[in-house]
Amino acid sequence: MTDERLIVGYDSDDDASVYVVSPDIAIVQTIDFFPPVVDDPYDFGRIAAANALSDVYAMGAVPKTALNVLCFPSCLDPGIMRRILEGGADKCMEAGVVITGGHSIDDEEPKYGLSVMGLCHPSAIRRNDTPRPGDVLILTKPLGTGALSTAAKAGLVEDTSHIKLLTETMARLNSVAAELSMTCDVSASTDITGFGLLGHANEMSGKDQRVTLVFESRSLPLLPSSEAMAKDGILPGGCYRNRAYAGSNIAFEDDVPLALSDLMFDPQTSGGLLLAMKPDDAPRYMAAMQEAGENAWLIGSVSHWNGISVRVF
Ligand code: CO
Ligand code: CO
Repeated sequence: MTDERLIVGYDSDDDASVYVVSPDIAIVQTIDFFPPVVDDPYDFGRIAAANALSDVYAMGAVPKTALNVLCFPSCLDPGIMRRILEGGADKCMEAGVVITGGHSIDDEEPKYGLSVMGLCHPSAIRRNDTPRPGDVLILTKPLGTGALSTAAKAGLVEDTSHIKLLTETMARLNSVAAELSMTCDVSASTDITGFGLLGHANEMSGKDQRVTLVFESRSLPLLPSSEAMAKDGILPGGCYRNRAYAGSNIAFEDDVPLALSDLMFDPQTSGGLLLAMKPDDAPRYMAAMQEAGENAWLIGSVSHWNGISVRVF
């Protein structure tokens, strides 16, 4: 059965579903949960919650309520479970989101996340596959969380400040990045997660060969140590799967270093927003982000279709 009030649903690869309930209110819904990405249960809770909330920000909506989704082994210390939930609760509080309930089951491996509900004006919904030629591409978190997490798990990151930065980057909400973009003309928006920058860029370019996304590999923000790890081939399996899946839609100039192209396919946990924005609005946005203590990098642009979905220089 089709319902014309479902304006973003199963037939789309967008970040969340959108259902219009009245002329000025659309409900945005999403769910995301995964196994621990860091050792500390409190940090894991914060990261999983920030990641789940991110899809709502990507849609241009404001998250309002959330339900906990928890899988937890009965043989483990319940104190660990409490710390995971505390991490999630603190992130939701920071986001102004009320946790209204949840569900937990016994499972062999812990998993945690949220189902989030957000609200938006139906006309303000931001899709992930509608970028406009001429727009610039802005990224709000550095890349490399997959490579660095893999290296950290193997004990290969000597500088503990780099691991701390990795954790704080993944736990950071995309709320400010989204809020400050509200007064800017944004034609497409998504959050960078499991498919990596180029997997999500491939989705953003759409299916109808209308635009080509162009990236400048040397202007990409990278987490410290991540490039060194990528050079040594310390990358998660998802990196290669992402390349295998989207690679045929992406053209690399000959001189793009392999480590950089690998990091562009590196699956991100709770990555930043990728925004296609009117160039006139970009300087104001970047300045506002800097003033708010956040980061934003201009990493590329949208051009008319020139034979391939994504081009990397
Ligand atoms: Co998403
Ligand atoms: Co998601």
